[in-house]
Amino acid sequence: MIPTSANAAAAAQTLIGRNMDQLTIIQPDDWHLHLRDEGALATTVPAAARCFGRGIVMPNLVPPVKNVAAATAYRERILAARPENSEWQPLMVLYLTDNTSADDIRAAHACAFVHACKYYPAGATTNSDSGVTDLERLDEVFETMQELGVVLQMHGEVTDPDIDIFDREAVFIDRHLVRIREKFPALKMVLEHITTEQGATFVRHSEGPLAASITPQHLLYNRNDMLVGGIRPHLFCLPILKRNRHQTALIEAATSGDSRFFLGTDSAPHPRNAKENACGCAGCYSHHAAIELYAEAFDRAGAMHQLEGFASRYGADFYNLAYNRRKITLNRDPWTVPERIDYDGGELIPLAAGQALNWRLQN
Ligand code: DOR
Ligand code: ZN
Repeated sequence: MIPTSANAAAAAQTLIGRNMDQLTIIQPDDWHLHLRDEGALATTVPAAARCFGRGIVMPNLVPPVKNVAAATAYRERILAARPENSEWQPLMVLYLTDNTSADDIRAAHACAFVHACKYYPAGATTNSDSGVTDLERLDEVFETMQELGVVLQMHGEVTDPDIDIFDREAVFIDRHLVRIREKFPALKMVLEHITTEQGATFVRHSEGPLAASITPQHLLYNRNDMLVGGIRPHLFCLPILKRNRHQTALIEAATSGDSRFFLGTDSAPHPRNAKENACGCAGCYSHHAAIELYAEAFDRAGAMHQLEGFASRYGADFYNLAYNRRKITLNRDPWTVPERIDYDGGELIPLAAGQALNWRLQN
């Protein structure tokens, strides 16, 4: 893994020092997002292209994107929704099931636009019913991924009903991740959307190619924000927001300049009525203001100089891709996030709806 560039961080620091109200960085990428399909793409694709250069597109459609043929067709639908003149690129991912074979992995490796395979434990989250029921059955698949250098993205939660929902990530690390790291020490893995101190600590102390993505909601909020004074369904995502101590650990990890932690929004749109519901869906939509939300978290931590590494360099290094050639500029220019956004014939409520944000992307 490429180490943090102290020079780049120092350069960004100088820039902020000179002008505390503006930051220019390499165009960022999103290493974890949900675009959905069909009518939803008219909202989600332009929003992704608004500030990112590339996006790792999650495969949890119904039915899931399980092979290269499905990824090819999905990619075409996504590209058809891309705004004119946009160079934003969707990077595709295959969904692992109990029936994924070593041949599926070889086909993924041979395909120029498939960049990873995603492990969902069956039943863990939205559209995960076709996920894996027994991790140990994937050993041959993991062996092939390790050999070919295909990235394994982990939804790191156990699903046993007797494990408390707030402990599911920590138990996953103890029960499964330790074993997988030992058995496949060269397997390139991303622990997706980490939410706990245990997740951050495990990644920081691991040897070998293990990284983690971190969402804006887990940097900006904790479970009190979701549950005190009334339930706020639009903050419900999986893995669920944890207590304040974990939020603090994630902020430290994201802003530390450690290249194993990088941006992955997990932006996951659901129509308003599916969230404001007796059995509401998990997922926060953040692509209306993704980089601005991260800037808010980094600014509060006094770490704007670390934003470029986290948002624009460390993920590309991990996935062995070049940095984007464009730059983006953020200005300190307070604005209010809209209360609602049109979505697929209905509406959705975006993350931080109605709240003030200090940083704004310059067009
Ligand atoms: O909150 C989440 N929403 N977590 C996931 O893992 C899936 C996602 C979705 O697809 O809505
Ligand atoms: Zn996700």
